[in-house]
Amino acid sequence: MSTVAHPDRPVRWAEAWSDEEGAARAAELFRRTYGREPEGVWAAPGRVNLIGEHTDYNGGLCLPIALPHRTFVALARRDDGGAGLVSDLAPERPWRGRVADVAPGTVEGWVTYAAGVAWALAEDGLAVGGFDAAVASCVPLGAGLSSSAALECSVAVALDEAYGLGQGGDDAGRSRLVTACIRTENEVAGAATGGMDQAASLRSQQGHALLLDTRDDSVTQVPFDLAGAGLELLVIDTKAPHSLNDGQYAARRATCEAAARVLGVGTLREVTDLPAALAALGDEEQRRRVRHVVTEIARVEDFAAEVRAGQVRQVGHLMDASHESLRVDYEVTCPELDVAVAAARAAGALGARMTGGGFGGSAIALVEAGSSPAVAEAVAAAFAEQRFAAPEFLVAVASGPARRVS
Ligand code: GLA
Repeated sequence: MSTVAHPDRPVRWAEAWSDEEGAARAAELFRRTYGREPEGVWAAPGRVNLIGEHTDYNGGLCLPIALPHRTFVALARRDDGGAGLVSDLAPERPWRGRVADVAPGTVEGWVTYAAGVAWALAEDGLAVGGFDAAVASCVPLGAGLSSSAALECSVAVALDEAYGLGQGGDDAGRSRLVTACIRTENEVAGAATGGMDQAASLRSQQGHALLLDTRDDSVTQVPFDLAGAGLELLVIDTKAPHSLNDGQYAARRATCEAAARVLGVGTLREVTDLPAALAALGDEEQRRRVRHVVTEIARVEDFAAEVRAGQVRQVGHLMDASHESLRVDYEVTCPELDVAVAAARAAGALGARMTGGGFGGSAIALVEAGSSPAVAEAVAAAFAEQRFAAPEFLVAVASGPARRVS
């Protein structure tokens, strides 16, 4: 974390660690906790979604990029079936258990996201033995930037390589790791999320946005060079509390699934005639949720088409429309997200929207290159005026996927 000097209102920036810094932190924690050397250090990124929100569990499209901010895990095998986990957030409280005992309901808290991966891999026929692991992360926590997926995916690539599972080397194998990480989150951690975050962390490519089609989990790498267009992407962590397993997220998903049943389709992706679908739905809440999902999928297509055509300056209105749809129809924004988006636009952003699950978390703003500090100042000032907690910022560039770093 660093602060930019300002006489009365310092703006806080969340900094990304280099391979060396992250590896050193995780390895040092490993040595201190277990008194031996790790076999290696692996890292997996958080993500921001450019557009396509709450579409991934509806068979739809989304367009995330991997962040430069990553979770690092130092790991070594054990031959006694034991498992050890320690985090830099609570270095004095390591968790100890046995791999064979990890299952839904037997672990809790942050351990579910890490140890749960071993259970999910075994469910898919990729059983691993014991291990000790130490985790250090610079992905902002609880900020809607997929700190939980970064943890799952870092452990997945570490176990894959340490135990020679052979899945990390190509996209097909990585898709299998994605599936294990989603099961970890859904079944062990109990959050009914879709698969966007895990796909972004494991299947992204540096310099590209990941166009994920959740109908068949196929991906298209879309070159995403903001600097070349004289732009940058400012991420605003509103610090408003954000949770994906407090019932609200699951309720949105359940409403979509109920609406799909009424419409006689497998997922809302199959809705081709929106006016007819809206007319067929008797429930006003279902109508609004369906309108969001169907229009949002169309916005992802338009956004990706603009980017491919070299017209990234033209996507601002799509970001704005996405935010409005999430605010009015999907009802997953909150005052902090709405103020962040409005203040960023007023300070010159070409477009701005909430990103991720919502109900708190982060917003993104597409801004002129070099103007992030000024836009951040304006957002921080608006937050101070509203007496919200001070926000935190980072500048996102499309980064690479989970991999070994040492
Ligand atoms: C969270 C979930 C994702 C996705 C987004 C909303 O990030 O983990 O699966 O549903 O919310 O787009």
